[in-house]
Amino acid sequence: MKNLLSPSILSADFNILGSDIECVEREGADYLHIDVMDGSFVPSISFGMPVIKSIRKNSALFFDVHLMIVEPVRYIKEFSKAGADGITFHLEADSDPGRTIDIIHSEGKKAGIAINPETPVKELKDDIIEKSDMVLIMTVHPGFGGQSYIEECTEKIRILRQRAEKLKPGLNIEVDGGINIETIHTVLDAGANVIVMGSAVFGGDIAENMRYYKKVLG
Ligand code: DX5
Ligand code: ZN
Repeated sequence: MKNLLSPSILSADFNILGSDIECVEREGADYLHIDVMDGSFVPSISFGMPVIKSIRKNSALFFDVHLMIVEPVRYIKEFSKAGADGITFHLEADSDPGRTIDIIHSEGKKAGIAINPETPVKELKDDIIEKSDMVLIMTVHPGFGGQSYIEECTEKIRILRQRAEKLKPGLNIEVDGGINIETIHTVLDAGANVIVMGSAVFGGDIAENMRYYKKVLG
């Protein structure tokens, strides 16, 4: 299975967002991770449809939109129209995840489902894993960039990869939060293949960071 790098623009410099995105695109980013926060599901508020619509004009990257919002089903059509290619929402925030996945698919987009660090993998029912294109294991408490990786999440990645081998071989398993030079090998060994990185890519020299992590991902 291919490893994919998804730089998270939450840690980009919003004053020069377009050129930061151009840089990661030029350096071979596979996805662009876009964190949408509503101040309710998570304590912070980030950005929404207008920003996505605007950056869509200058980027051909796969827009990996991570919705940290309550009852995401209300906004699937709008994020899809704004330019998302994949939409990931939280199991904890949705009363009917199967239906939300169907709606994302009916928009012609890839559907992902996310679980928080304290949510056990068993909360994801077999049919939800089977119909998802991606499962996102949060490796920090969602809401902010630059936090430390939560070690207990490694075992969750392993458990999910094992279940996916039976239910859906080739399932994309994404990890998000605290991934850097020290933790990247741990998540890859455990079975993750879509790697979100905010501060590790956008902190310092972006091109240099991209080259380093592209090499690690092979
Ligand atoms: C956190 C966001 C992450 C964040 C990761 O709630 O979902 O995508 O940008 O940032 P780092 O890689 O700095 O932990
Ligand atoms: Zn995210």
